[in-house]
Amino acid sequence: KMSRQFCVGGNWKMNGDQKSIAELCKILSAGPLDPNTQVYVGVPAPYLIYVRSLLPETINVAAQNCYKVEKGAFTGEISPAIIKDTGAGWVILGHSERRQIFKESDELIAEKVEHALAAGLKVVACIGETLDEREANKTQEVVARQMCAIAQKVKDWTNVVVAYEPVWAIGTGKTATPEQAQEVHAYLRQWLTENISKEVAATLRIQYGGSVTGANAKDLAKKPDIDGFLVGGASLKPEFVQIVNARQ
Ligand code: G3P
Repeated sequence: KMSRQFCVGGNWKMNGDQKSIAELCKILSAGPLDPNTQVYVGVPAPYLIYVRSLLPETINVAAQNCYKVEKGAFTGEISPAIIKDTGAGWVILGHSERRQIFKESDELIAEKVEHALAAGLKVVACIGETLDEREANKTQEVVARQMCAIAQKVKDWTNVVVAYEPVWAIGTGKTATPEQAQEVHAYLRQWLTENISKEVAATLRIQYGGSVTGANAKDLAKKPDIDGFLVGGASLKPEFVQIVNARQ
């Protein structure tokens, strides 16, 4: 874990307006944020330029989605090239809301990851099981399937962060216990060892996401295979600073 930089992201989802975003950016800029932790915020696309202009360079800006080609007749979509042009360097892909509400398949998500990496973005690839899948004891099978699709399109994992977000923990206030999260993170590392390489298993950051708060972040952060968080609701509040600083 020592060799993996702790990484905390805020996923603002479809929230905020210019006023509330300016206030939040002020709070994040003031921090202070642990300089050893890498930080990014996932911003609604129309605000990418605005947020980039309001935050110090030490805080990375991410889009929450993109398409899999550079440009063309794809009304309503944004490309990795457009994201880069806004000054944002990251993109969150495969969020469970994209998978469930917008019916994105493992394969489409993998293609998006491939193209975003090729365009020079850093990618947060989200995976995670639903409650039904967990209760049917399919958690490992599901996250392995999701990882497998992504792995087919990724050669170099340097610019990838994986976010494990159990769907039953997202926006529900039901955080996975540190033990539950650690168990899946450890499994993912074992999967990486067996299917990719020891080196990728040792260096790839795996964030936990799902009802992370200032109150529960410290205990989760102690687990050896949890390398940070992807935070939804609490990332819209000053509390996000505490989560970034969970290891202090
Ligand atoms: O991507 C982060 C997310 O889905 C978790 O949301 O509100 O449970 O922290 P929340």
